[in-house]
Formats: sequence, structure tokens, C-alpha cells
Amino acid sequence: MRKIQMLATAAALLAATGAQAELTESEKQERIEQSRAAVKEFGMTLKGELQKAMKAGGPVQAIEVCHSVAPQIAENISEKTGWEVYRTSLKPRNVRPDAWETGVLEQFDARRADGESPKKMEHAEVVEVDGESRLRYMKAIGTKGLCLNCHGTREQIPDNVEAKLEKLYPEDRAIGYQKGDIRGAFSIIQDI
Ligand code: HEC
Repeated sequence: MRKIQMLATAAALLAATGAQAELTESEKQERIEQSRAAVKEFGMTLKGELQKAMKAGGPVQAIEVCHSVAPQIAENISEKTGWEVYRTSLKPRNVRPDAWETGVLEQFDARRADGESPKKMEHAEVVEVDGESRLRYMKAIGTKGLCLNCHGTREQIPDNVEAKLEKLYPEDRAIGYQKGDIRGAFSIIQDI
């Protein structure tokens, strides 16, 4: 009887402390460094592909890069690292943010409104996902002039681009952004 009670107490303690138990501060810092490297690779690879397609065929051709190549790059990096790596946004074309991501994206917008540059804006935290501890990392993505071709106001988006975007994303909300706005974020979920 006592043994069972002790086991139950131990299990309760583990459940209570589980979220933070398995990652030291230096391990967490190392994971954050690795996350930074992964989003850098994602961003650089995508930027290269986007610029190539823009040069070759303008924004209409480049939509294909964002539509098909971007998720592919995310998948390749996810496979390589063993983590979930993707992009999301408060006004997503593709991946909707979950509750935690929504909170972080809102915090990013608030930090931006306070004058912080999106360049180094990030957030990392150990959180429970489906009862398991995970390290979650997000890095803000700022809007540049080039992005307005497909994320700007209706006047800024060329007609042929608008037509193709409407076909691919009939419920599109990822427009109306201005230079410097936070378009979204890279998001990473790591097992601990
Ligand atoms: C040629 C058109 C085009 C350009 C230019 C473009 N995007 Fe996109 N963007 C898209 C499309 C299409 C998607 C949806 C991709 C998908 O289905 O996964 C997207 C998705 C995104 C997402 C993921 C969130 C979401 O809405 O699903 C982010 C973040 C993003 N773009 C940021 C940018 C930034 C920053 C730039 C400028 C450096 C940029 N985009 C330039 C077309 C474009």
C-alpha cells in the first residue's frame, strides 16, 4: 500500500515538474542557437529561390515558389533536423497558428509597435504539447518591398498575380501588409 502511494506521489511530482525537468539552461541555449541556424537556412534558401523566379518570370512565376517550394524547403529542414519546422502568421495563407503561436505573434506585433525591429525578434519557451514537454521557438519575419507584390494592398499587387492568388487561396487574408510589418514567423517544435 505504502509503495503504491509512493509511486503515485512520484508520478504526480514528475507530472508537475515535467515541463522544465529535462533541459538545463545551457542545453536550452544550445537548442535556441540550432533553431536560429535552421530558420536562417530556411530563409536564405527560400529567398534565393524567390529571387531567381522573380528574375526569370516576375511575381506570377514566383507564386509557384511560395506555394510549392516553400513547404518543400520546410519539409527538407524538418527531416534533416528531426523537428517540426514551418512558417505561420496571424493572417495565414497556409498553416494556421495554434493558441501558443497566436499569443507569440500578437506579442511580436506589440513589440514592433513599441519600435523593436523584426530582424532579431524571437521567442523560445519550454511548453507542454499533448502532455509532453517541447521546446518551441519562433522567429519573426518582417515585410520588405519585394513582398508587397503578393502581400501588399490590392493596388500594389499586379492584376495577374491577384488572379492567380485568388485561384490558389480563395479565402486569402495575407494581403494589406506594409513594409516593416510582421508578415509572420518561422516556427519550430522540438522534442526534449
Ligand atoms: C510571388 C508572390 C509572393 C512573394 C513575392 C512573397 N510571398 Fe509570401 N507567400 C506567398 C504565397 C503564395 C504564400 C503561401 C505559401 C503556402 O501555401 O505555403 C506565402 C506565404 C508566406 C508566409 C507564410 C504564412 C502564410 O501566409 O501562409 C510568410 C511568412 C510569407 N509568405 C512571407 C513573405 C515575405 C517576408 C516576403 C518578402 C520577402 C514574401 N512572403 C514574398 C506569395 C509570395
